[in-house]
Amino acid sequence: MKINPLTYAEVSRPMYVLEEARLRENLNLIAHVAKEADVEIILAFKAYALWRTFPIFREYIKATTASSLFEARLGFEEFGAPTHTFSPGYTDYEIDDIAHCSSHLVFNSLTQYERYHVRAKIENEKLSFGLRVNPEYSEVETLIYNPCAAGTRFGISANKLPDTLPKDVEGFHIHCHCESGSDVFERTLVHIEEKFAKWFPQLKWINFGGGHLMTRKDYDVQRLIRILQGFHKRYPWLKIILEPGSAFAWQTGPLVAQVVDIVKDHDIKTAILNVSFTCHMPDCLEMPYHPAIRNAKLSDEDGSAKGEYTYRLGANSCLSGDWMGSWDFDHALQIGENIIFEDMLHYTTVKTNMFNGISHPAIALLHTDNELEILREYTYEDYRERMD
Ligand SMILES: Cc1ncc(COP(=O)(O)O)c(C=O)c1O
Repeated sequence: MKINPLTYAEVSRPMYVLEEARLRENLNLIAHVAKEADVEIILAFKAYALWRTFPIFREYIKATTASSLFEARLGFEEFGAPTHTFSPGYTDYEIDDIAHCSSHLVFNSLTQYERYHVRAKIENEKLSFGLRVNPEYSEVETLIYNPCAAGTRFGISANKLPDTLPKDVEGFHIHCHCESGSDVFERTLVHIEEKFAKWFPQLKWINFGGGHLMTRKDYDVQRLIRILQGFHKRYPWLKIILEPGSAFAWQTGPLVAQVVDIVKDHDIKTAILNVSFTCHMPDCLEMPYHPAIRNAKLSDEDGSAKGEYTYRLGANSCLSGDWMGSWDFDHALQIGENIIFEDMLHYTTVKTNMFNGISHPAIALLHTDNELEILREYTYEDYRERMD
């Protein structure tokens, strides 16, 4: 089916639509940075794991990063390459399988390293070990996204690292950005080097984590390349790895939903939709943030506005707080018309759930010729089989 991506008028059921042209633009930019800066950039599955699209990714990148056994398996089996894996808590019942599916294994603490490094190497002798270190500096202001906040459970601080690292530790892993610019990376790198450069001669690689939002329009890509080239000059033996997630799927497509009813209380109009914030756009409530809606303007964030064409958008779940608002439209909303939530691919598609048994939106790929391919539709069986 051919689609007009300006209106999605041909779509009459909820659907996440990944636009291949926009994805390829992001992949091209990421591959350009990797080449110019001589670094490896890998995909973080936590942000994006639509495995049917991996053949497109493989044209541009070679590896992925996993944070669990299932993500590691997905990389190994579906992406076709062992993963760079980090988890704050490996367990007796998963470590062997994780080791089997990984090329790099990063430990969050020295106790986790002690407990599992021998066993992991027995399973996979090619594994390269790393330690997650805590630079104790992050400019991320939203607390739930700041891995360096006091009391953090992530990484080893410099004062707890032995002068001589264990012999089989080959890398450091640092993650302290979130949707950040290259200026933030530049300032953070000063702290990282101050704290950790004395160990660099003992290492082969350094992973600067995710949160480098290089595909955002205002991101200074040249500056990122310059920063990385400068780091190479200072430490030429270190291979540099970046593992963004959002940057790959940033602005690559919407969630298309439909209006199913309009209700009114205390003069506040709510358009009831066939999607849910808590099920299908959970970051809107969790982060929280108000999504951009095509052809509508956010008029207030507390949902009390009462203009002629002003609406809260309400979900089809039973959670009272499952609504957001308010948005101004340029006409009275009609039952059946599309509401297009912009930029709903990264994180959203991996975090959805089937609370209330609400129908899960389909996932589709819009090819560059505007042909729509449905990748996945969800059925009652998907709901039933999550439980017993
Ligand atoms: C360790 C690690 N690596 C990579 C990422 C990906 O970050 P982003 O999607 O912001 O680029 C995250 C996100 O939380 C992370 O915790």
